[in-house]
Amino acid sequence: MCPKSSDRYSVYSSEDYEPNGDNIVLRNRLGVKSQTEMDALEEKELFRAEEEVFKLFDKHHQFTAQDIQNIHQLWLGDIYDFAGNYRTVTLTKDTHTFAAAQQIVSCMQIFERDILTKYTPCNSTDIDSIAYAIGLVHVELILIHPFREGNGRVARILADLMASQSDYPPLDYSEIDKINNPEGFQKYIAAIQAGMGRDYQPITEIFKKILRC
Ligand SMILES: Nc1ncnc2c1ncn2[C@@H]1O[C@H](COP(=O)(O)OP(=O)(O)OP(=O)(O)O)[C@@H](O)[C@H]1O
Ligand SMILES: [Mg+2]
Repeated sequence: MCPKSSDRYSVYSSEDYEPNGDNIVLRNRLGVKSQTEMDALEEKELFRAEEEVFKLFDKHHQFTAQDIQNIHQLWLGDIYDFAGNYRTVTLTKDTHTFAAAQQIVSCMQIFERDILTKYTPCNSTDIDSIAYAIGLVHVELILIHPFREGNGRVARILADLMASQSDYPPLDYSEIDKINNPEGFQKYIAAIQAGMGRDYQPITEIFKKILRC
């Protein structure tokens, strides 16, 4: 598991994980070493954060990169030191490698300038436009993957906030749930990867379905 000394950004550094644990639970402020306990804690804090963010951003709010950092901090601030901060390690899921750690600041600046400014506030009555805006923002944020952990959940909070700007309730993601709907999840991952080629049609279709639920 140890990185080569040249591989400064390898994620397989024991320093990322709880000491004396099994290199699964990320180093945290509470010394939690059980993944089950950490999952429950993150979920509890996520419910709290979801309630709080809806009081912070109204229908007319144009989101910024700083807002996304603030949402991450609001959610995970009591658990991880890295809450609200961009990651410094390379992250790979399956065969996909997300944006290089050194490029995250500039990727997020461009994301704010070219995407958040254009697609938020998300005020529309047309479901196709809403699904396209939410889908595009979601895919691009996931592809940058700015944080060490929690990118999917932050991106889903942002999608909920955008949906609420168009008067939709918080979205039900069971359609793309990894455990309960593996086929839907695989389609969702394919839609994320289609975004690499700026093909946002698959993710738009997915969010259209989710918005209708
Ligand atoms: N193979 C893949 N290719 C591209 N993106 C992926 C792949 N697997 C997962 N993802 C994206 O990465 C997200 C998970 O990233 P991360 O672990 O940082 O977020 P999380 O909030 O901790 O997890 P989750 O989204 O599973 O609740 C997924 O929600 C999905 O958007
Ligand atoms: Mg995760």
